[in-house]
Amino acid sequence: MCGIVGILGSKPVATDLVDALRRLEYRGYDSAGIATVENGHLERRRAEGKLRNLESRLLSEPLTGRTGIGHTRWATHGRPTERNAHPHMSAKVSVVHNGIIENFRELKAELTAKGHSFETDTDTEAVVHLVSDELDQGRRPIDAVRAALGKLKGAFALGIIFAGEDDLMIAARQGSPLAIGHGRGEMYLGSDAIALAPFTDAITYLEEGDWAVMRRSGVEVFDRAGECVTRPLVKSVASSLLVDKGNHRHFMAKEIHEQPDVISHTLSNYLDMANARVAFPDLGVDLAKISRVTISACGTAYYAGLVGKYWIERYARLPVEIDVASEARYREAPLPDSGLALFVSQSGETADTLATLRYARANGQRIASIVNVRTSTIARESDAVLPTLAGPEIGVASTKAFTCQLAALACLAIALGKARGVISEAQEQELVTALVEVPRLISSMLHNEEQFVELAQALSKARDVLYLGRGSSYPIALEGALKLKEISYIHAEGYAAGELKHGPIALIDENVPVIVVAPEDDLLEKTVSNVQEVAARGGQIILISNANPEKIGCALAAHIVPPTAHPLTNPLIYAVPVQLLAYHTAVFMGTDVDQPRNLAKSVTVE
Ligand code: G6P
Repeated sequence: MCGIVGILGSKPVATDLVDALRRLEYRGYDSAGIATVENGHLERRRAEGKLRNLESRLLSEPLTGRTGIGHTRWATHGRPTERNAHPHMSAKVSVVHNGIIENFRELKAELTAKGHSFETDTDTEAVVHLVSDELDQGRRPIDAVRAALGKLKGAFALGIIFAGEDDLMIAARQGSPLAIGHGRGEMYLGSDAIALAPFTDAITYLEEGDWAVMRRSGVEVFDRAGECVTRPLVKSVASSLLVDKGNHRHFMAKEIHEQPDVISHTLSNYLDMANARVAFPDLGVDLAKISRVTISACGTAYYAGLVGKYWIERYARLPVEIDVASEARYREAPLPDSGLALFVSQSGETADTLATLRYARANGQRIASIVNVRTSTIARESDAVLPTLAGPEIGVASTKAFTCQLAALACLAIALGKARGVISEAQEQELVTALVEVPRLISSMLHNEEQFVELAQALSKARDVLYLGRGSSYPIALEGALKLKEISYIHAEGYAAGELKHGPIALIDENVPVIVVAPEDDLLEKTVSNVQEVAARGGQIILISNANPEKIGCALAAHIVPPTAHPLTNPLIYAVPVQLLAYHTAVFMGTDVDQPRNLAKSVTVE
């Protein structure tokens, strides 16, 4: 995590560095800082907390250098204080870093023994002293960095500048993404192309193990072996993706309201809507011959994958394995011949998901990914990419990316079902028609938001909240609980409704709201029994269901009634009320909805 930028500019760069950092705050916002080369020596300004604190610092203590680096932090090693904020530096070198230097303890011990004194609790500072040590031995900056890189273990992206070097910046990528931007007489470095969008759309992405020597006149890229390599210059579309909140108070609200449009856009990529058919892109593999699908993802994307499992098993009768990527990557699970490994990721950069992808590739799987950022590492390392067309998602709590992932997964399930002869043409038409209805049904719910505002006030008083669901509603219960805890900080757990009696029922009393996600489908009756178990113990039931309350047969604290939809599409429809409940609860509680504490949007550490 963390966002890094660098500019070799033709004028003072401090303002542009901060501007670029603003676009990277999704990667962390525990602290921010910049460093520039000021008349040959290095100077920095840093501040704890959000970027605005750094901006105020720069107003009173400006920096005027034309060569600079910047950083917005998601703390891993060391508390989020100013002392631990990047850039880290010595008199000779300044470094911004994203990732983790795994052998920093050994390096620190070695360098301390050599007389270096460490000031922070970070792993990054080891890089500063390592490069300084090489410089002390008389190496030139490029050779010093080359030697230092050879001693680093872990995953990192680095931006490095040097005292006395106004036309030099070195970047290195091992496990964390880095983009180099080409300007006219200027060069840029960023964790992604969006950070650089105001300056240039001409981008070179560094590949794994690459490091680059940047000067105003251009860049030389070297691979892990030190060979000079050519990496393509691509035109980034990021500039068209710069976004604002529109008329909404938060990005999250805007993104929830964008769902009808972006789901429709995503569906149109996979469906022939006019003829109610799937029109799935070629995955370069015969869908009928896939022996098993193995899904891996993290966070919200994992819950999308879990819905995908229910769908693919039900509509394509194809076995699906699923695990969170942080477990999947270490399980060393045997993978089948002719298996399809499917990765779901909004950012396409999540470290654990990427590591699992590489494991699957090494174990002979065909690799497909559902990603929102097409230029991301996961997309680039996949055999087939199934894009979600959600547009940039800025709110840290994922909403529209989730429902777009569901849209793509539903289309995949139908395509697999059709290819395997499980679904007839008539069934395909029925399912596709149901999917096409989704944007309209979600729109209708978004016009009726008042009920969530009232309910949120009651929820905000709870200390614990349980979410229950069964079948494909179970992942929606999990996602509902995740949304609530992420942005309101209320403790919430999602359970498979049938698991209630195996433990969580002990928690229930009149102070514990139980949110039941229960569309009227063939599982409703089973879930109703669980609802009655809750009612018998005085639990406050908030039912999200299109079923007639008479079918529930007990008192409800509240009843949210989503529109009636086809069973296939219920997860898409029921995702929206759980998002709105979490959103309005957080707004009522006054938390930082778009940037909740301790979280980051893109998680590039393990
Ligand atoms: C972080 C984000 C979540 C996201 C997860 C996976 O935890 O805060 O919203 O679901 O990472 O991210 P990905 O980009 O792989 O979907």
